[in-house]
Amino acid sequence: MGEAYDKLSKCYKSVKKKIDFQPRVALVLGSGLGDYVKQVKVEAALDYSEIAGFPVSTVPGHKGRFVFGYVKKVPVVIMQGRVHYYEGYAMEDVVLPIRLMKMMGAEVLFLTNAAGGVNENFHAGDLMLIKDQISSFVPSPLIGPNMDKLGPRFPDMSGIYHRELRQLIKKAAKSLGISLQKGVYLQLTGPAYESPAEIRMCRLLGADAVGMSTACEAVAANHMGMKICGISFISNLACGMTDQPLSHKEVQEAADKVAPLFEKLVTESIVSIGKTLKQR
Ligand code: HPA
Repeated sequence: MGEAYDKLSKCYKSVKKKIDFQPRVALVLGSGLGDYVKQVKVEAALDYSEIAGFPVSTVPGHKGRFVFGYVKKVPVVIMQGRVHYYEGYAMEDVVLPIRLMKMMGAEVLFLTNAAGGVNENFHAGDLMLIKDQISSFVPSPLIGPNMDKLGPRFPDMSGIYHRELRQLIKKAAKSLGISLQKGVYLQLTGPAYESPAEIRMCRLLGADAVGMSTACEAVAANHMGMKICGISFISNLACGMTDQPLSHKEVQEAADKVAPLFEKLVTESIVSIGKTLKQR
């Protein structure tokens, strides 16, 4: 099945040697949202650098490790820090951790990110439930020999973000009194933020939020048949929508402000998702 699969198997064996934990839900924490781990009953943690062959992240604010533990009673694996395409990794490396979490046993993938708001009705600080995505501006992680053990050559993409999980998250938000925007996430490569003309293009294409991650991970997870859900934290309105220039610092500071709401919503959502999982 090719070199990429061999590398994945090697990483999996390396993890298994160190950690004996079977997660049901995999959670990816976006920029500035890494503190969520404080809400988790942690059983073990594994730095990415301890895994043989694993791509390691370099962005400030991104800790690179898997955290294993429980959100209430739900066994989870958390990526505290993700791997970005703009760091220079091949796309198959960017999604390697997602594939690894599936191999560890996770059947649900909960994606989070910080994103720029493209929809004119959005505000900085909003949370957006991802309904669908546009990944056409980044290479597909499925290019190359198909990993038949993971999924089909030509996967269907008609329901990437699982309908039932979306309903559960909406309900969780409602019960917590958190208002939730809904929309389409568009991934660009970064690392530069977009120009005003690019943001107008994103809006014309039907995007509500723009960022530099997530969609490629969802493509890989969808290929493997994982149930996927995602929340974007709108850290800023995208370029050209306000007079302010964008900075990574601004994104992190905005994340700190919204973190308490975000944390409540993620916990409540994972608890409801946990109730839908069949006993193994
Ligand atoms: N653009 C792209 N990625 C982002 C943004 C943005 O405005 N904000 C946070 N991540």
